[in-house]
Amino acid sequence: MSASGICRLAAAALVLSCSVSFADAPPAAQIKPRQDKLRDMGGALKAITDEIKKGRIDWDNAVIPNAQTVKDRSGYLLNWFPKGTGPEAHVKTYALPVIWQKPDDFTRLGKQLQADAAKLNQIAQAKDEAGLKAQVQTIGKTCKACHDTYRSPDYEKDNEE
Ligand code: HEC
Repeated sequence: MSASGICRLAAAALVLSCSVSFADAPPAAQIKPRQDKLRDMGGALKAITDEIKKGRIDWDNAVIPNAQTVKDRSGYLLNWFPKGTGPEAHVKTYALPVIWQKPDDFTRLGKQLQADAAKLNQIAQAKDEAGLKAQVQTIGKTCKACHDTYRSPDYEKDNEE
């Protein structure tokens, strides 16, 4: 087969694999998309903190859409850690095995995140500046609580600025 034929086949395979739902993908293939979504959530929360730092908050173009992203992503987070998507998948991941050893606690933190994100979203809609400042701290503590136990400290090492 010609090289371009192989490429067409590869492209077709890609399209096929994209149409398979996230949860059906083999464990190793679920890790990278999970990390991408977590990074988006991190970026959205950071964009909100940047607005607060700037002093002049752009609610409509920055805070409201980013609070929506945090809320959407937090709603799915607990679906992103099916069994088999830890270090045993042999793909680079910072997810620690303890996630699957203490599933109740992990779920509790995931639900806490959803509640915090829902409130963040309400506050954004209400354009409540004092509330926003407080809620960013609150949700940040929930992110940290989970990362402290369930994410490898290597993440900080690998992502030092
Ligand atoms: C219930 C637990 C839990 C909560 C809550 C949580 N995270 Fe995470 N997060 C993880 C785990 C586990 C990883 C490692 C995933 C991996 O490497 O496969 C992670 C990874 C990340 C990453 C790194 C992605 C990458 O590889 O580049 C970012 C960024 C991140 N989280 C942001 C956040 C933010 C922001 C919040 C709060 C708004 C949050 N997380 C809340 C468990 C959580």
